[in-house]
Amino acid sequence: MQVSSFNLIISKETHLITNNSYHNIVNMNLSIQVEVNGKKHRSTVEARQLLVYYLRDQLRLTGTHIGCDTSSCGACTVILDGKAVKSCTMLAAQADGCSITTVEGLAQNGELHPIQEGFREEHGLQCGFCTPGMIMTAVDLLNKNPEPTETEIRHALEGNFCRCTGYHNIVKAIQYAATKMKEKEVAHV
Ligand code: FES
Ligand code: FES
Repeated sequence: MQVSSFNLIISKETHLITNNSYHNIVNMNLSIQVEVNGKKHRSTVEARQLLVYYLRDQLRLTGTHIGCDTSSCGACTVILDGKAVKSCTMLAAQADGCSITTVEGLAQNGELHPIQEGFREEHGLQCGFCTPGMIMTAVDLLNKNPEPTETEIRHALEGNFCRCTGYHNIVKAIQYAATKMKEKEVAHV
């Protein structure tokens, strides 16, 4: 039987199940099907497993980083059914049936995505730890708003922390990408 772990947690909070059975439930295994970077996966996950750990540990897509594990830093951002989500804030079981794009899915035929190119050209990274999350947030922004102002870019990056760059070159990288994508009319992910 397919069980939604999200519903199980709601049940725990509303005291519909005992602590003991809650323990059993969070330790149980669930079957999920997801499409990640265009590839279909059928996997078994623990009910309590976070999406970010599923991507990194089971699918070995380690481009999605873990900076805080508490939904603050944005390093774990991926695109889920067309929207940016912090993959440490949801369970892998909640992604059942969803389509996910990680940073590994952006380059096509050996060519960097314009946002990746923008980070390279405008020196949008130093240590690079925040970069995958910044890039996926930028993908979401440019999908929704292909010609953002500088203020709109800074606003979009509010949930992504960078301790190295001071953000200026990240903003420039996204402006570079917006121009490039307009010229090329790059397909949305
Ligand atoms: S690791 Fe997810 S927001 Fe920091
Ligand atoms: S480049 Fe180091 S944290 Fe952003």
